[in-house]
Amino acid sequence: MSTALSAPTCRRLEKAARAAVRQAYAPYSKFRVGAAVLAGSGKIYRGCNVENAAYGLCNCAERTALFNAVAAGERTVRAVVVYTPTAQPTAPCGACRQVINEFGPEAVVISVCATAARLETTLAALLPAAFGPDNLARAHSGQPGVA
Ligand code: THU
Repeated sequence: MSTALSAPTCRRLEKAARAAVRQAYAPYSKFRVGAAVLAGSGKIYRGCNVENAAYGLCNCAERTALFNAVAAGERTVRAVVVYTPTAQPTAPCGACRQVINEFGPEAVVISVCATAARLETTLAALLPAAFGPDNLARAHSGQPGVA
């Protein structure tokens, strides 16, 4: 079950995501994204999208923030906030949903933008029937059904 964020925590996360977009490196798409992750420790980690001339290597803001958190020693994610300077909010892409699932299957996911429009949902709603660490744990435990 996702736990609701307090209003002050929500405001801090949104502020961090809005600040993070200033570092976005998006010379190809010009689509700038900032993200903030609330980790299990209560700390907030920021990220921005980082593009590359080899387009396939572009990294989304959500994954940058998440990898920042994991590199700092965090192993759980309680919330992810995405900010785009657009009229409509942007939900995390499929790849980011999968990466969030690894550390925050119960995370709250909030998307905010340059207007009052916002999306507030959960990772479980964005990625139902997710494949995750449990699938591998079951397969490796010699449970029936494993070849
Ligand atoms: N992007 C993100 O950073 N997060 C999203 O949720 C959607 C897309 C980035 C990737 C790329 O740098 C640019 O936006 C256009 O796809």
